[in-house]
Parts: sequence; structure tokens; C-alpha cells
Amino acid sequence: MSIKKRKKIGILTAGGDCPGLNAAIRGVGKTAIIEHDMEVIGFNAGYSGLINEDYIELPESKLSGILTLGGTILGTSREKPFKMSKKDKQNVDKPQKIKDTYKNLGLDCVVCIGGNGTMRTAAMLAEEGLNIIGIPKTIDNDVWGTDMTFGFDSAVQIATNSIDRLHTTANSHGRIMIIELMGHHAGWIALYAGLAGGGDIILIPEIEYNIQSVYKTIKKRYEQNKPYSIIVVAEGIRHPKKYSAASYIAESISSFTDMETRQTVLGYVQRGGSPTPMDRVLATRYGATAAELIAQENYGKMVALKNNEIVPVSLSDVSNKLNLVDKNDPLVLKARNLGVSFGDE
Ligand code: F6P
Repeated sequence: MSIKKRKKIGILTAGGDCPGLNAAIRGVGKTAIIEHDMEVIGFNAGYSGLINEDYIELPESKLSGILTLGGTILGTSREKPFKMSKKDKQNVDKPQKIKDTYKNLGLDCVVCIGGNGTMRTAAMLAEEGLNIIGIPKTIDNDVWGTDMTFGFDSAVQIATNSIDRLHTTANSHGRIMIIELMGHHAGWIALYAGLAGGGDIILIPEIEYNIQSVYKTIKKRYEQNKPYSIIVVAEGIRHPKKYSAASYIAESISSFTDMETRQTVLGYVQRGGSPTPMDRVLATRYGATAAELIAQENYGKMVALKNNEIVPVSLSDVSNKLNLVDKNDPLVLKARNLGVSFGDE
């Protein structure tokens, strides 16, 4: 009679943090322990922990009380083990060290929770023969292959609350308010928060704007007795390096009009604090499904949201792609139909 070996898994969180990471760790860990009798450890500081065999035990007791907590109990880093300088390569072979850790600890799988960079590394580790499962997180919502990453909903809520508050002060002073939101390549946060917060102009990296058009919209609003305007910009829109996106738009507008402009760069508050209920549920569903895939030994996959179901997609398909806003995204078209400008008219 063969006795099935108890599975041992490691979890890591890599890349920029976001709300919901602890909910995902908890989702993986609790399901793995309670439902599938696995042993769970957590690597500290993303892929650095995996390289340096730096980890903590994660018994079920450690997974209690973390659902609502922002950040990550495991810490994170932007370590990219396959991106080594020549000097690095001479001194230390990081991918080999990861394989050593995996073997030394007797792991059956590593769950990598992260964004695009993390999924790329996860896919490469899977190619190297390790059992890997990916879970997509990022406030930017730009991971390819899933309808939504967790962290996004929380960031949109924080950004929307901020835009709401700008309306009243903009109205009192008759000012043009420019708010810059995160998103280097993808304008999802600006698009969603811009719509939810009633932004008049939304500028995102995927839609080329011209400043004359932005000004034309402001002028038209003024002539229609709308004394103020809210411009929502993603940090990644085209602008000279010496300015922030918001200050560039503010300066450019000032050269056309005497109307006062003010700018707000929201920054890291978008990544901090407790996740929204939506993100808690999504992260939990992702985590639980990741543990189920491990129980089925269905490795080399990223869990993804598709039509409100969590499904596995191949890590090799996800790697090196980005989920960007399409110019003809229904949300963009609907926004245009209700008078929102994308600065390209
Ligand atoms: O995690 C994605 C993101 O939030 C981007 O929108 C932002 O530009 C970037 O991280 C900045 O993060 P860091 O300063 O931690 O590298």
C-alpha cells in the first residue's frame, strides 16, 4: 500500500504591494492546510526569500486575523532572479540558488503572488522544472489573461474618494483641478476612478491626447456656466521627465487661460490600507483556487478571473503581455457618449 506524501508549499509576494495580499496568502494557506492537509511556509521579501532560503512557517494560527490587513505579512521586493548583471553571474547563480532552496526544503510547489514581472519570473521558474502557481495582483490591473487583478478595486475606491473631495473645493474656487493617479503603462485606475468620480477629462497612456483639445473642453465647460473642471491623469501619459504628469498638464493649461489650476498627485496612498470587500473576496477566491490546483497537481498555471469564474491559464501565455485599455473599450465609448473628453477630439 502506498502512502501519499503530505504536500509542502511555499508562498511569496513580489513586486509593488497592494491591498489584498494578506487575504490571498490566507486563502491559499487556509485551504491548503484545512482542506488538503498541506504544510505551508512563506518566503520573506519576494524572490529574495526564495534565493536566500529565508522563510517562516505558516501554520493556520499565523493566517488568522490577517484578512483585512493592508500590505503583506511576508514583505515584498522587486528582486528579478533572472535579470543578473555580469558581476552577479560570476558571484551567484540566482536561478540555481532558487532550485537549491526548492530541493533543500522539499517543496512541492511555490505560489507566486504578484504582477507582470512576478508572472514572468514565475513562468521562467516553471520552465526550469519547478512546480509554480501564479496569483495576479496589482492596483494597475494590467496583468494579461485575467478580467481583474486584486488590489485594483481598492485603489479605484481610494482614488474615487479623492476625486469626490476635489469637486467641492474646485467648485468653491472655480478652479481646474488635476489629479494624477498611478498607472505607468495602463490607464485602468484613471479610467475607472475618472468615471466613478465624474471626471470631465480623463488622460491615459493608451489614448494620445493633445493639449489644445484639453483646453477646448475646459473652455466649452466655462462657456456653459460650469465654473470648474476635473482632469484625471494617469502618471504614464506623455510628458517631459522633469515634470510630473499633473504638473505638466497644469503648466500647459496655464499658458492658454487665466483660470487657476491646482494639482494633486495621489501617489502611494492608492496602494495602502485595508482592501475593499470586493478585493478581499477576489483575493480569497484566487488563493483558494491556487491551493486546489496544487492538490490536483495542475502546475504552471496562473489563476484568472474570466466571466466571474476563477479558471487556470497557462503561465507561459501570460508572460510578457500587458492588459492595456483598448481605445474602443466599451467603457471609453460610453464615457465619450456622456461628454467625457479623452483629450483626443
Ligand atoms: O505596483 C504598480 C505601481 O503601483 C505603479 O502604478 C507605480 O508606478 C509603481 O508601482 C511604483 O512602485 P515602486 O515605487 O514601489 O516601484
